[in-house]
Amino acid sequence: MFRSVPGAPPDPILGLSAAFQADDRDDKINLTVGVYCEADGSTPVLDVIRTAEQRLYDTERSKTYLPITGSPLFARGVRTLLFGDDADLAARSAVADTPGGTGALSVVARLAWVTSHTTTVWISNPTWPNHRAVFADQGLGVQSYRYADASGRRLPMAELLEDLGRANAGDLVVLHGCCHNPTGADLTPSEWSQIAEVLLARGAAAVVDTAYVGLGDGIEPDTAGIRILAEAGVELFVCLSFSKNLGLYAERVGALVTVGPGAEAVHLVDSRVKACARSIYSNPPKHGGESAAIVLTDPELHAAWLDELAVMRQRINGLRSQLADQLAGAGLDLCPGVATGRGLFSLTGLTSDEVVRLRTERGIYLVENGRINVAALTEDNIPLVVDAFARLRQS
Ligand code: LMR
Repeated sequence: MFRSVPGAPPDPILGLSAAFQADDRDDKINLTVGVYCEADGSTPVLDVIRTAEQRLYDTERSKTYLPITGSPLFARGVRTLLFGDDADLAARSAVADTPGGTGALSVVARLAWVTSHTTTVWISNPTWPNHRAVFADQGLGVQSYRYADASGRRLPMAELLEDLGRANAGDLVVLHGCCHNPTGADLTPSEWSQIAEVLLARGAAAVVDTAYVGLGDGIEPDTAGIRILAEAGVELFVCLSFSKNLGLYAERVGALVTVGPGAEAVHLVDSRVKACARSIYSNPPKHGGESAAIVLTDPELHAAWLDELAVMRQRINGLRSQLADQLAGAGLDLCPGVATGRGLFSLTGLTSDEVVRLRTERGIYLVENGRINVAALTEDNIPLVVDAFARLRQS
């Protein structure tokens, strides 16, 4: 068998990060993978996570298996994060602790395949490359809906709605909860409502992938789209990641929240979520999820987390303004959405040839579609990046 396996190309994001590690130039800059960085380029462990981990260390008596969908404490923390004290949404939702947001997406993909081999999954154009991979590798058909141009400028809503108007009953529509990856250009509440209308009319379900809650405008605004869909009665899978907002990247902590118009249907779908999770990874890793659960449910730690999130958010938005100002100062019409966008990413508008030249000639690594991780910029490297862009455009 091995001889006949066709090799796979490197991952479009993590493959470049690996290439960056192997690059021995001292002045290289990694703007590929989405991790939050401090001014010195480090990605710290959050203070609240250190406290939660210490508490776990002091109190944990066993590492026996968790239930397939994780602990009740984790579920409570996630529900409160998304729905506050809304008892109705709590009653018609189910929570599974998953290995990262990708784990949650994979469970949804498996579930769609097992229950209906004909499901088509609609992803935004552009989107995070792993969306296509997760759903297509499961054998599902993937189509895209128009969202933004190659420079990350949002396209008219009419185009998006026209494309989603072609979805069939039972299809899945993947939406970015906030901090759209790769554009940073988000949906407004009224646009979420328009999408809810189309999904209800077509009988399609939503998959809201949300990995940046709290890093856009704050927890409440960053989760508003989810509540708009849920309150409208859209069938909904929310795939949450705690990699960035709790800094738990390598611990692999995420959640799959199933929300339906009624508790009974959710219970049925949740039984299928359990079966899919069991056949993919059996049950979730314990350490990261328990650390997250402590922060999400302990009032003092939760308040401290909001402060840490605000610091990260302000830093990212400050970097956005600095980059926009310096690009304008250099007369460069690049990253048109960087000043108004939210979250870690922005599209530069550079072509893939220009991206390759930046990498080979200057050691500056971007994703091939021209995406930069704004949160890996620093006060020190912004002038270097802008200078490299300017030289590229002059030559
Ligand atoms: C990214 O888009 O860079 C992050 O979500 C990390 C990843 O897994 O690709």
